[in-house]
Amino acid sequence: MMEVVDDATALAQRATARFVSSVRRATAERGRCVVLLSGGTTPRATYARLAKPEIASQIDWSRLHLCFGDERCVPVTDPRNTFRMVREVLTSHVPLPDEQLYRIRTELTPADAALDYEQTLRALLGTDRPDLVFLGLGDDGHTASLFPGHAPVRELVRWVVADELAEQSMWRVTVTPPLLNAAREVVFLVSGAGKSSVLQSVLQPPRDPDSLPAQVIRPTNGRLEWIVDRAAAGPGGAGK
Ligand code: 6PG
Repeated sequence: MMEVVDDATALAQRATARFVSSVRRATAERGRCVVLLSGGTTPRATYARLAKPEIASQIDWSRLHLCFGDERCVPVTDPRNTFRMVREVLTSHVPLPDEQLYRIRTELTPADAALDYEQTLRALLGTDRPDLVFLGLGDDGHTASLFPGHAPVRELVRWVVADELAEQSMWRVTVTPPLLNAAREVVFLVSGAGKSSVLQSVLQPPRDPDSLPAQVIRPTNGRLEWIVDRAAAGPGGAGK
């Protein structure tokens, strides 16, 4: 399902509403809610909005478990670190118990950080699955840290792996398709004219996840939703 909203502000409003309703539904049905967050610039406004008292008060933070779909392997003091961004704009302002914010430990080697995070997620989830996953779309078609032509796109077993991005001289740790596709709900947030052409390609055939990793996201028993602004939807409305 795709929803096209006016602009980046409307996108943050919509994404916030989706977050609140998913948390409420999951906690009502199962007593808790496990969310995987994305990094990048697009969701920042959503996270900041969730921290506003009138929105934050709609969420039972004691029931929420906040995890990450990927991380850049840089120290938490580095502005590119996603956990740092989420703490700065969201979790330092809301009553989320510290032990319910699950950080990818970038002080370890990337391989160890991936193993550590896999253990963390397996301990948290057991036989359960994530309730909600927020994802972004890169202009090369990547999502989370699943990059075109890189092995994590094809991963079938591990939940979390490390991958080197030579072009950025950076390692990433990413949750893999088996866990992302197990989620009850996956929501892509896409904003800006710069994304319109890749968005068209991702939504249309041919399906070639190796070139356009966002195409690998197909929840096996869950809902896939796109919230995109008009600039990203482009003149064709993203094929609507
Ligand atoms: C990260 C991501 C990545 C991101 C896309 C889109 O970089 O942290 O997880 O997959 O969501 O690159 O990023 P923007 O929202 O900045 O366009």
